[in-house]
Amino acid sequence: MSVEEADAAVAQRKSEVPAAGQAFPRNHWYVAAGSAELGRHLLGRKLLGEHLVLFRREDGGAVAMSDWCPHRGFRLSKGKLIGDQIQCGYHGIRFEPSGACAGIPTQNAIPKQLRVRSYPLVEKWLWAWIWMGDPSKADPALIPHTGLEDRPYHHAFHLCCPMKGNYQLIHDNLLDGTHVSFLHAGTLDSEENTEVTDVDFSWETVGSLIRITRRFHNFLPTAMVAQSYALPQGVPVDRLLVTEHYMPSFVIVINRFTDPADPSRIVSEQIVHIPVTPAGRGEAYHFAGTSTSYPSGTKDDTAFLRGVIEQDLMAIETVQSGFDERGIAFREVSVRADTPGVQGRRIVASMVAAEM
Ligand code: FES
Ligand SMILES: [Fe+2]
Repeated sequence: MSVEEADAAVAQRKSEVPAAGQAFPRNHWYVAAGSAELGRHLLGRKLLGEHLVLFRREDGGAVAMSDWCPHRGFRLSKGKLIGDQIQCGYHGIRFEPSGACAGIPTQNAIPKQLRVRSYPLVEKWLWAWIWMGDPSKADPALIPHTGLEDRPYHHAFHLCCPMKGNYQLIHDNLLDGTHVSFLHAGTLDSEENTEVTDVDFSWETVGSLIRITRRFHNFLPTAMVAQSYALPQGVPVDRLLVTEHYMPSFVIVINRFTDPADPSRIVSEQIVHIPVTPAGRGEAYHFAGTSTSYPSGTKDDTAFLRGVIEQDLMAIETVQSGFDERGIAFREVSVRADTPGVQGRRIVASMVAAEM
């Protein structure tokens, strides 16, 4: 799409831009947790407006159940894991991973209604994916196809960062890369490249995928960038920066550095996984993991990512609090750089509408 076409599209659709703070579609796979977060302990987490408890069975299989004891409403995540059963911490009633009641300490008969809802949970790459919509539609083949499994890279889970902001604000943030030079000045950017002029930029939509591509030719990495991506210092490389948004729940950011003399030779590659999961209407999780062509996943790598994400968190929470204060009186004004973000909102709005 040319710059003029993008301008015209923004102007024409300005009145149709779906508002920030959108509802979330339910018939999709969302990341509930990093696989590394799950174990033989009870993890309580609020997802898509519901409190859930997550754990691993003795055979290692991952389980997600409603975190709500049907007896008197105690949180099951405050109970105990005994074998594969959860024992409620209030009056000791036990539940199987299927949600069926396994026993009541004070009687033998089990009322039929005394059961907990359990949810499909599937592990793929670094993540445990949950389906909280119509169970008859929970097909694992609907988890995004990214090609990540084809890369023999080093994989690392880094963090789960809760934010007081609508999940759509995380997509807005990632879909407008112009914030990098300002919000992340000094961490992701040298502050010298605030004008996006000598960069090839393109974007496309394929179904519910938005792909943004930037190319930097003969990019000379700063010492910090060379260290972050295991690049030789003082040697120019071609840089391909691709952001793929699998709306509404998963983003990958690919940083590929190639030899300008031989574009097929990858000098170094980092793929950041960013699952985006609503906790409720105005709260969400920003997860992070990496797949890299070089050894990584150290505490320093996690600390660096955390620092960057906390800058985004500050922006997202500030924006959310502004929306909360002003309500519908706040009208955003979009500019050309928002075109992919507006497209993201439109895709999600149509997913939500399709479920009504
Ligand atoms: S609230 Fe769980 S056993 Fe009573
Ligand atoms: Fe950012």
